[in-house]
Amino acid sequence: MLTLITGATGKTGSRIIDRLTAADRPVRAVSRTTGFDWEDRSTWPAALAGVDAAYIAYYPDLALPGAADTVGAFAHAAAAAGVSRLVLLSGRGEPEAQRAEREVVAAGVDTTIVRCSWFAQNFSETFMGDGLQDGELALPADDTPEPFVDAEDIADVAFAALTQDGHAGELYELTGPRALRIEEAVAEIAAASGKALTFKRITPEAYSEALPPELAEFVVFLFTELLDGRNAEPQDGVRRALGRAPRDFGEFARRAAAAGAWA
Ligand SMILES: NC(=O)c1ccc[n+]([C@@H]2O[C@H](COP(=O)([O-])OP(=O)(O)OC[C@H]3O[C@@H](n4cnc5c(N)ncnc54)[C@H](OP(=O)(O)O)[C@@H]3O)[C@@H](O)[C@H]2O)c1
Repeated sequence: MLTLITGATGKTGSRIIDRLTAADRPVRAVSRTTGFDWEDRSTWPAALAGVDAAYIAYYPDLALPGAADTVGAFAHAAAAAGVSRLVLLSGRGEPEAQRAEREVVAAGVDTTIVRCSWFAQNFSETFMGDGLQDGELALPADDTPEPFVDAEDIADVAFAALTQDGHAGELYELTGPRALRIEEAVAEIAAASGKALTFKRITPEAYSEALPPELAEFVVFLFTELLDGRNAEPQDGVRRALGRAPRDFGEFARRAAAAGAWA
């Protein structure tokens, strides 16, 4: 059973690879560094050759225009190449991401959708972590709570869906067990790391100034339109998939702090 992991160096892909490797399962890890590019379909056949199961983690985001067509085409290419199992990483409350889910299912392969809330690791391994390195996280976010999901839980569910029977056709909404405002999340990270970290609310205009234009528009959309409360309610996807509770944000903060994420 050869498993293909896209986004192999990313927050979820790398953790799924750790699990496959620990279980002695053959894995093909791909991203642009190995010559696989979502925007260059000529790179797909080599990635898919001989693969039994594939994890689809599109980048930058399924909510962006064109993403649904790309992942749909990839799922059809996977089906044509003989892949028998797909796991799609998706986002909650995003009409374009939900269209991408339908496109992937339409390829006719056994598919599991992991539809995730915002990752806790956005605070430690990506743009929100950069702000925390400087002691202040300045974002155009209001008081809307989000049930941040731990990427370790996403990896556990994806690993199960890629390697075990019983997950085909399932849609797992993966969240943490409680919703936190960004200010509260930063306070928990401050407590766990022992650092003086604060959150500051800024306007979308001020936030955009520090970002490249193509990224600014999308990130502001995430904070001002998507983070509007539609996804605030925690869901039971981790328990349905794995029979256990999801990891709490506090556990993530303590683990990441111990690993030096905000040192
Ligand atoms: N972050 C969240 O809170 C969240 C929540 C819900 C859903 N999602 C979904 O998760 C996906 C992205 O996750 P992420 O933002 O957390 O990123 P990530 O998986 O942490 O990192 C991106 C990965 O994609 C690879 N990559 C970047 N551009 C690529 C390209 N053109 N072709 C092939 N591979 C490429 C990168 O490696 P290289 O640089 O080596 O190419 C890296 O491995 C999106 O589909 C998004 O909708 C994210």
